[in-house]
Amino acid sequence: MARINDHWLEGSCHGQADRDYADQIVVCAPHIPYLVRASRQLVGRMVRYLMDQGVRQFLDLGSGIPANRHVHEVAQEADPDVRVVYVDLDPRVAADGRRLLEGNDHAAFLEADIRDPDAVLNHPDFTRLIDLEQPVGVLIIETLLYLPDTDDPAGLVASYLDRLPSGSYLGMSHCGEDEQLRKGLNIFSRMFGTPPPVTLREREEFQTFFHGLELVDPGVVQVTLWNPLTEEDMGRNPELAHMYAGMARKN
Ligand SMILES: C[S@@+](CC[C@H](N)C(=O)[O-])C[C@H]1O[C@@H](n2cnc3c(N)ncnc32)[C@H](O)[C@@H]1O
Repeated sequence: MARINDHWLEGSCHGQADRDYADQIVVCAPHIPYLVRASRQLVGRMVRYLMDQGVRQFLDLGSGIPANRHVHEVAQEADPDVRVVYVDLDPRVAADGRRLLEGNDHAAFLEADIRDPDAVLNHPDFTRLIDLEQPVGVLIIETLLYLPDTDDPAGLVASYLDRLPSGSYLGMSHCGEDEQLRKGLNIFSRMFGTPPPVTLREREEFQTFFHGLELVDPGVVQVTLWNPLTEEDMGRNPELAHMYAGMARKN
């Protein structure tokens, strides 16, 4: 999905097969590229918000490709000393990530499964870049979608935050039970075969993933309504985006 997103975000890390697959998705669910772009704008707003709170280190779990205004581009533009660790388990995405970050001593790309927090938090690149005495901004953007309930995503999120100092933040987004998306997935199965397996979660359930943390304003809301700065951030019909976002602080 990261390479398909890269196509919709007008990046350069995808090929013809990714574009063909992306077109099949669009036939079934034409609103997905809009949600992907809205989600990337959200990342920028979350990074800037965290920078304003004094956060200077970021951990992006299930990051996709670090291009197209991703975390380090936004953060290091404001402060070149910001440290960023991206994590993704897809080897091709990780290879693109390492290539794109070459020469950037303050950012690293780890090929790891986020369901193994020890592998991430004890990785030499993580310990080299991230100081666990200082607040960390953790981002999990459209990744828990790929973790079924049997993986205990809420417990997983908590196990990362438990090991970070107070003053750290968690920013997440998640697709809700979108009727249009459900229908799209059914059409995709009939036309093209098995779609990528995803677990949609409604806002109330997603909100429980922030348990024990202090949600910042405006709480868990549609992705386009999370601290929009411009009309473009809001999109034309923000209430139609069944994708939710929230940010919370560890006290
Ligand atoms: C929708 S895509 C990219 C989302 C990305 N956060 C963004 O904002 O564009 C989700 C990513 O999560 C990654 N992913 C899924 N399950 C994962 C896991 N268990 N560990 C690490 N990465 C995972 C996929 O490889 C994919 O690149």
